Amino acid sequence: MKTICISNQKGGVGKSTIAVHLAQHIIEKNNRVLFVDIDPQANASKTIRQISDVLPVDASQLFTDELDDLAEGTGAISLIQADEKMADIERSDPNVLLTFKKNLS
Ligand SMILES: Nc1ncnc2c1ncn2[C@@H]1O[C@H](COP(=O)(O)OP(=O)(O)OP(=O)(O)O)[C@@H](O)[C@H]1O
Ligand SMILES: [Mg+2]
Repeated sequence: MKTICISNQKGGVGKSTIAVHLAQHIIEKNNRVLFVDIDPQANASKTIRQISDVLPVDASQLFTDELDDLAEGTGAISLIQADEKMADIERSDPNVLLTFKKNLS
């Protein structure tokens, strides 16, 4: 499994656009994608949910210890949508990143 992170501090530079198109490109190569949107604006989630299996967990839950086992989606793209609580996560203890890493794996 490869992990690709699309990130840039500057706004409006094409992060969401690249992420959505890259996911589409990857599935056209017959690979599967787990798309995790951690931007509280959720622009990429709104676009890509139309062609995804939306998983029953929101992105902010990946940063908590309360996440139960998560079943894989069956389609080419499984989506973990961004939610408004991601705005709070951005301001929280940096140690939540370790929890995020553990939950993602
Ligand atoms: N390579 C490009 N050429 C032309 N327009 C582009 C390109 N990349 C992105 N855009 C346009 O620029 C705008 C901003 O792109 P996008 O929303 O992907 O940026 P973003 O970095 O995710 O923004 P934000 O910081 O608000 O999340 C969109 O209207 C998008 O269509
Ligand atoms: Mg964006």
